[in-house]
Amino acid sequence: MDAIDVIRAKRDGAALSPAQIDWVVDAYTRGAVADEQMAALAMAILLNGMSRAEVSRWTEAMIASGERMDWSALDRPTTDKHSTGGVGDKITLPLAPLVAACGAAVPQLSGRGLGHTGGTLDKLESIPGWRASLSAAEMLDVLAATGAVVCAAGGGLAPADRKLYALRDVTGTVESIPLIASSIMSKKIAEGTGALVLDVKVGSGAFMKAEAPARELAETMVAIGADHGLRTVALLTAMDRPLGAAVGNAVEVAEAVEVLSGGGPPDVVELTVALAREMLAAAGLTAAKDPAAALADGSAMDVWRRMVVAQGGNPDAPLPVAREEHVLRAPASGVLTRLDAYGVGLAAWRLGAGRARKEDPVSFGAGVICHAKPGDTVREGAPLLTLHADDTSRFPRALEALSDAIEITDTGTPDLLPLIIDR
Ligand code: URA
Repeated sequence: MDAIDVIRAKRDGAALSPAQIDWVVDAYTRGAVADEQMAALAMAILLNGMSRAEVSRWTEAMIASGERMDWSALDRPTTDKHSTGGVGDKITLPLAPLVAACGAAVPQLSGRGLGHTGGTLDKLESIPGWRASLSAAEMLDVLAATGAVVCAAGGGLAPADRKLYALRDVTGTVESIPLIASSIMSKKIAEGTGALVLDVKVGSGAFMKAEAPARELAETMVAIGADHGLRTVALLTAMDRPLGAAVGNAVEVAEAVEVLSGGGPPDVVELTVALAREMLAAAGLTAAKDPAAALADGSAMDVWRRMVVAQGGNPDAPLPVAREEHVLRAPASGVLTRLDAYGVGLAAWRLGAGRARKEDPVSFGAGVICHAKPGDTVREGAPLLTLHADDTSRFPRALEALSDAIEITDTGTPDLLPLIIDR
């Protein structure tokens, strides 16, 4: 087979055959198809799309490029969640132990943040001693002992995706729905989970700003799951304002612990419980303990503490705190009608909570605390946001990111997306 024929076929709008897909993904992973050829093919896919059969086969070929994890030794069903990422999205932290407390096992391979959206591993690494890198045997031990594990994906999982994603990142081809869907689903299917719930975010702070492409992405991923025998459900959820009050790393861990203690911001609690119910139902655990009860009676908190300890962390150690803070006060009295997720995420990033390049470090203490949410009435001069950074030189650019993110009106009502837009 020849890479040029495959590129020409997709360029001219033809569907790729299963043999062409298997060959090109495998040859690219082995280095027999050059980066520039795969870049041309990725651009042709971005422009001309893929059918359901093509995208399913492409996913299959990416899974086949590496290892597949197996949790059949566990005595309970596995279920996992994937979020397309957003601002203040710390949901995995309370969710994984919560679902484990209700009887399922959660084998979550997670990622680090890039740009204005945070990464679950960065947040968890702010817990002193906590370790993201585990071998497959260690993962199984933590899962068997606690019911949940959240760690970094090893290099052996879908290596074709790792290589292709890095290439897409520098060739303007990230924004292809078939390529995003197959990238996410190849890793989740290779992870070996028995059921999957997708939290596809919509709004300024999300990867997909508008509902229509988010819906298309969700439907494509659910179809890939179905084609691979993986029970998959997707929720479309709001990311037009930050989730919860805390945006950053350690500040989000603290907020997750509040949720596990039976408190926390209502939106974080609502989404955590809704996703937990979906994960349990997808795993076939219809008679499981209700997640709201497991938050209230402390059983989810028990699992969290055991999970943190099992990965080397100290759940009682003080979390890192940034050296400096700056309080942004309400410029007028009225109703907060807008607190834009992207603006707040960009501010947190500029404060040091996120990274611009994969190899950059993050500041664990940096971030933003929101003292008001859209719809709240605020008084002139009252604290609206507190910015945390290790260095005061970070404040001016963070404040610049917020200059268009906040709107206070006399009597307005915010035009917000429902927290859960659709299922
Ligand atoms: N996340 C992924 O894992 N892959 C993509 O292509 C985009 C987001």
